[in-house]
Amino acid sequence: MKDLSPRKSELDPIEIASRDEISALQLDRLKWSIRHAYDNVPMYKRRFDEQGVHPDDLKSLSDLAKFPFTYKNDLRDNYPFGLFAVPRDQIARIHASSGTTGKSTVVGYTKNDIDNWADLVARSLRASGLRQGNIIHNAYGYGLFTGGLGAHYGIERLGATVVPMGGGQTEKQVSLITDFKPDGIMVTPSYMLNILEQFHRQGMDPRESSLSVGVFGAEPWTDAMRKEVEQAFDMHAVDIYGLSEIMGPGVANECVETKDGPVIWEDHFYPEIINPVTGEVVADGEQGELVFTTLTKEGLPMIRYRTRDLTRLLPGTARSMRRMEKITGRSDDMMILRGVNVFPTQIEEQVLVTGGLAPYFQIELYRSGRMDAMRVMVEVAPHAANEAGKSAAQRMLVKRIKDNVGVSCEIVVGDPGSVARSQGKAVRVIDNRPKD
Ligand code: DLL
Repeated sequence: MKDLSPRKSELDPIEIASRDEISALQLDRLKWSIRHAYDNVPMYKRRFDEQGVHPDDLKSLSDLAKFPFTYKNDLRDNYPFGLFAVPRDQIARIHASSGTTGKSTVVGYTKNDIDNWADLVARSLRASGLRQGNIIHNAYGYGLFTGGLGAHYGIERLGATVVPMGGGQTEKQVSLITDFKPDGIMVTPSYMLNILEQFHRQGMDPRESSLSVGVFGAEPWTDAMRKEVEQAFDMHAVDIYGLSEIMGPGVANECVETKDGPVIWEDHFYPEIINPVTGEVVADGEQGELVFTTLTKEGLPMIRYRTRDLTRLLPGTARSMRRMEKITGRSDDMMILRGVNVFPTQIEEQVLVTGGLAPYFQIELYRSGRMDAMRVMVEVAPHAANEAGKSAAQRMLVKRIKDNVGVSCEIVVGDPGSVARSQGKAVRVIDNRPKD
């Protein structure tokens, strides 16, 4: 793989500023953001008043811990526009989550917000090893989801050529990649596997494709998956993180030269890690729930937003800004089996290192007697697709999960194509437990 590290002169100066400079900028911006929320959003005013805190109480960054949290439900309760901090006619764009449970969550951006977002996605792409003049194939879904348009404007801002493909139509994805010869692709990692399969189906060698960088996010994925995709395509795979409530893609992005966890763009987002049970801020390096406060957002300022994503903060390496450890899971995705906490990413890791299996899986939760139980549906790899191959892989995976994750589960090894393919964010868990 080519060395694609950007030169220092290509970076925004703040990416490599001193920690003191970064903290000073954060404090200035945080004061503005807290004040903006308090003055313009009735919910924040009420919450701060109830907790007995005032924007003037914020004298240092650590004072942020005195302010109340904001939750996903707050967006639902104020549906659709109740948390916007500017008059509606200053909102230039709206996005919304699909809302599989309850009402969808609606987010709004001013022109400046969209401008900052494009800058940060462009910065993320530069960190990923892409640059002006490249062609970038965008297979994140367009529409209300922030992935498609968020990536799109960032690609344009970088000065690259965007191919606005969107999700789905996998055959066409492959023909456009073959014909247009993009340097980079932006897509969920699970859908990239679907594209990979289509390359094989069309008898093409993915290593011969023009792609040199994949910018993968919108769902958790493991280093085992990184290796799988990097080897299959002979390209770099880097992690892009973000969430609609805070902005969309590009809140944090990995650097291609280190691939050691997404760098949080701390000049626009202030991260904290808290103990999800007590709500206390924990020290850098300790695991917990990621909480973000926006520093520049006009349309929808978010103060101490509980992401439910579990990770830890790590010191800067390729940049001065802090990194987050690759997300292992969300508190919502955690399964508890006989007292053991299990995340889908732990299963992904084991599936990917078990020989004779294809990289697709889905987990089913069901009730066995009075206990919750897990069944993992996987697929035999085409080259091992016979009964002996299936049962060898089955035994191997049962043992690996028992030894490495610490739970016993049922493994069903199906024929090639038997596990549902992702079209965007993969559905990893099907919960068939009785609702009680
Ligand atoms: O998924 C924004 C996005 C689009 C990010 C494209 C990256 C690329 P939401 O639909 O609001 O926004 O979902 C946000 O997805 O809280 C995480 O749980 C998860 N997530 C996003 N990126 C990553 C990642 C977009 N790189 C939620 N690793 C977040 C793990 C991720 N999980």
